Amino acid sequence: MNILILGGGGREHALAWAVMQNPKCDKLIVAPGNAGIAQIAECAALDTEDGGAVTEFAGEHAIDLVIVGPEAPLAAGVADRLREAGFLVFGPSQAAAELEASKSFTKAICDAAHAPTAAYGHFTDAEAAKAYVRAQGAPIVVKADGLAAGKGVIIAETVDEACAAIDDMFGGAFGGAGAEVVIEEFMTGEEASFFVLVDGEDVLPIGTAQDHKRVGEGDTGPNTGGMGAYSPAPVLTDEIAQKALDRIVKPTMAEMARRGTPYSGVLYAGLMIENGEPRLVEYNVRFGDPECQVLMMRLGAQALDLIHACAEGRLADARVDWAEDHAMTVVLAAEGYPGSYRKGTVIGGLDGLPEDSFHQMFHAGTAQQDGKVVATGGRVLNATARGATLAEAAERAYALVDAVDWPEGFCRRDIGWRAL
Ligand code: AMP
Ligand code: GLY
Repeated sequence: MNILILGGGGREHALAWAVMQNPKCDKLIVAPGNAGIAQIAECAALDTEDGGAVTEFAGEHAIDLVIVGPEAPLAAGVADRLREAGFLVFGPSQAAAELEASKSFTKAICDAAHAPTAAYGHFTDAEAAKAYVRAQGAPIVVKADGLAAGKGVIIAETVDEACAAIDDMFGGAFGGAGAEVVIEEFMTGEEASFFVLVDGEDVLPIGTAQDHKRVGEGDTGPNTGGMGAYSPAPVLTDEIAQKALDRIVKPTMAEMARRGTPYSGVLYAGLMIENGEPRLVEYNVRFGDPECQVLMMRLGAQALDLIHACAEGRLADARVDWAEDHAMTVVLAAEGYPGSYRKGTVIGGLDGLPEDSFHQMFHAGTAQQDGKVVATGGRVLNATARGATLAEAAERAYALVDAVDWPEGFCRRDIGWRAL
């Protein structure tokens, strides 16, 4: 099979690594890729949000399966264009990607499916939104409706803070994403991520994970895209996962199919768990980054079989071969992230790192420059390891971190603290 992966972060490096483990893969191209991906696959420059360009590229390279990593190409309808042209695609249609692209859309689907989630109001003007906040009181959560690169969610401790966030959003702080606002009840509990494959109505769980969104140790400081993750998530027991499937995932997927926009691809359910009861925080229409890194580490080569079965609508007969293992990934980020940071700093120590089914240094934001690997993003490397216990996975992941020579980088030293 000739495979094309769209994206160029740690998530796509992990996907590329898993795909390459599987002998079904004859050729792999990743667009745009990065310096780490270039060591295992061909990388190509391509505008991944341009459906016409991606379709043409897939035709020229005789691609049999396209795996879409990030949400932006999905929200732009790239999967639709590829399917119209007859390509096999892993990733939802533009209509189904609304589950991530519009928070009010997801809330309406949850209402229709009676899926447990936070109580909410949906507003198109600031005065009505503020009146709702005053009536509800704080803490309360203010969300820009559209895609805002993970920054459009404000947890307001006071009514004044919530009103300021509302003014910001309607004032254009998040561009078009903030033209509509969703205001939600603040949910307490422990968060975990639940990953399932969906092909219309069949749903196959493929793993659980927890990430650390805050930049600082002890889960303090500003939010990031995620500073590390581990799988499985102990809080998501089999019993709670079953409840999440029966009450949230399956009813919402059935509602999507009933509306004529069935979902196909990986669905990432962010859950809040309190007293053994899961509620939906949000859906994402892609793998999490860095959650994908720990899932791929655990699934290995079978990830391609599962992705292929999903894309072909064969999930009813697919099985996951579970191992009783644990994986952890630690993000190495550029000093200053998630604020401003320097680009182009040189990373040493990457040659000679162990690379096997227990250790992988996935690249998230790197490029090759004059024979050296340099940092090109905020989150730059993902030290990822697998072990019989989470403690063993952590020991291996931090040994990878310690072998890297990058004075301008930093990481959190406490990934997994809740579970350890
Ligand atoms: P989202 O972009 O919707 O995932 O929100 C980002 C983060 O904000 C989530 O991972 C939660 O930690 C937090 N969050 C979002 N909605 C709520 C809520 N209703 N109650 C409590 N925390 C929330
Ligand atoms: N790590 C969170 C996300 O991918 O959305």
